[in-house]
Amino acid sequence: MIDDMFGNITLSVIKPDAVENGYVIPILSHIVKAKFHIIALKMTELSKKSAKKFYAEHKKKLFFESLVKFMSSGPIISIILEKKNAVEDFRNLIGNTNPVYAKKGTIRNLYATSLEKNAIHGSDNNQNAFKECLFYFSSREIFLKENL
Ligand code: CMP
Repeated sequence: MIDDMFGNITLSVIKPDAVENGYVIPILSHIVKAKFHIIALKMTELSKKSAKKFYAEHKKKLFFESLVKFMSSGPIISIILEKKNAVEDFRNLIGNTNPVYAKKGTIRNLYATSLEKNAIHGSDNNQNAFKECLFYFSSREIFLKENL
């Protein structure tokens, strides 16, 4: 099961800015139209401690504290998505981290307001995709199909 999924899943987070601005349904519709299959989805909220853990690789960056504050400022939607070549295809769908450079029609071009408040997260490689899925979901939730 894990071997089947490797390379074909990614973790996305609809961030507090997009949830607050009412963009959850338009963003989900964009994702589904692009033929991603939703394996798991939940609305949740990050504590400061969890946000620090999720973004640990950025802890030395100047924007780290601000990013943690923003990511723990309100509800988010975490989603596991499945599609062949999921990580790369999803990053193309969401566009550049900085919405100023995001191509027309990408999710960040349409819904992000700044480099920090950039509406959505997508895993950056296959190893991180698995790690990030297990950050938000239990292995039982991820492999639910196996338990049916
Ligand atoms: P994300 O794809 O979730 O990964 C790390 C996040 O840090 C990124 O989206 C942005 O929200 C944020 N980020 C990256 N670079 C900067 C920056 N220079 N200033 C502020 N926030 C940043």
